[in-house]
Amino acid sequence: MTTDQTPSLKSNFIIAIDGPAASGKGTLARRLARAFNLPHLDTGLTYRAVAAELLAQNLALDDEAMASEIAANIELGNLDKDILSDHKTGEAASKIAVMPGVRKALVEAQRNFASKAPGAVLDGRDIGTVVCPDADLKLFVSASPEVRAKRRHEELISKGKPSDYPEILSDLRIRDERDASRTDSPMKKACDALLLDTSKMDIETAFLAAKKWANAALAAKSKD
Ligand code: DC
Repeated sequence: MTTDQTPSLKSNFIIAIDGPAASGKGTLARRLARAFNLPHLDTGLTYRAVAAELLAQNLALDDEAMASEIAANIELGNLDKDILSDHKTGEAASKIAVMPGVRKALVEAQRNFASKAPGAVLDGRDIGTVVCPDADLKLFVSASPEVRAKRRHEELISKGKPSDYPEILSDLRIRDERDASRTDSPMKKACDALLLDTSKMDIETAFLAAKKWANAALAAKSKD
């Protein structure tokens, strides 16, 4: 038993968490990883790292060959959330994420991360559908665009950064549309994913629900 009262892991235990920006999926993924003693990969950072490199070198965001080459050389150990989390990088990441060459390279690195014992928690847009379709637990975390924009707005204000709610809401809607309508691996709920709508939930309530599902998935796996 771990300190979190979870049974010991017999083999790779994979939790896949998908959902739109500011849905709370990142916080849930981090907390589940801690509770189950698993490494965590925020796959959004891998797309952000490619975008940040293109921006830093003043390269075009529609150069798929260059973006794919950068993607093939991304080091997962070097992803710095503080450096990659700004709004401009997120927008650019969503644009380069439509490119099959970029996705192919990043998905390979993400699968490699997930394949190591004792398993992992990964969050993103296509984890349950493409990266880890055999995950032990799949969650799709969602919330209304207004609630997500309010969260982002309050987060920026609390950090003393400038923020404009209508602009954030409009950008979120555009990003959702781009992420959900691209041809290669669009953001969507896997048919066997559990839906967690956090619109009217605080993060603690959402975490307790997710942890309950994860404990059940782990118990089912231990019986196999
Ligand atoms: O989760 P995030 O905001 O850091 O993600 C940034 C962008 O990266 C997102 O708008 C779309 C892309 N992305 C993706 O296409 N697939 C993933 N698994 C994760 C992120």
